[in-house]
Amino acid sequence: MVTETARIDEILDRFPQIKRNALIPLLQAVQDEFGYISEEAIVRIGAHLSLPTSKVYGLATFYNQFSFSPRGVYHIALCNGSSCHLGGSGELFGELIKLLEIGDGETTRDGLFSLEVQSCIGACGQSPVMAVNGTYFSGITVKELREIIKQYREDASG
Ligand code: FES
Repeated sequence: MVTETARIDEILDRFPQIKRNALIPLLQAVQDEFGYISEEAIVRIGAHLSLPTSKVYGLATFYNQFSFSPRGVYHIALCNGSSCHLGGSGELFGELIKLLEIGDGETTRDGLFSLEVQSCIGACGQSPVMAVNGTYFSGITVKELREIIKQYREDASG
C-alpha cells in the first residue's frame, strides 16, 4: 500500500525547483490528490521549499479553496453569496450546524458529512442553493433541508 508520505513525496518530486512561487501550485496538487491538506503535507512542503511551516500554513489559510480536514462521504457546499443570503442561507447554515454538529470547514466524526460555506456557487437565480457532492438543491427551506440530510443518512446506512 502506498503511504500518505510516499504520495506527498511523489507530488513534491513534480515540483523540483526550490522556488517559493511553487507553493500555491503545490498546495493545489496536494489538495487535488487527497481532497484536503494534512499537517504532514504542510510540514513536508515547508521543508521542500525551505519555508517555515507557519508561513506555509498562514498562506494556505488565506485562500479559502484549501481545506484542512478530510472531506466527508457527502460534501455539502452551502452558498452564502448575496442572493442566497437574502434567500435565507443563514437559517440553513444554523440548521446544518444543529443537524450535523459541525461548523464551516469541518467534517462529522463518522466521516459522513463535511460542510463548506461558499461565496457563490453559480446558481444565484435559484437561491438559496446548496450542493451535495455536486448535486444542486435550489430554493430549499429548512424543512426540505432536514429531509435531504435524512435521505443521505438513510442512503449511507442502507
Ligand atoms: S449567491 Fe448563491 S449561487 Fe450565487
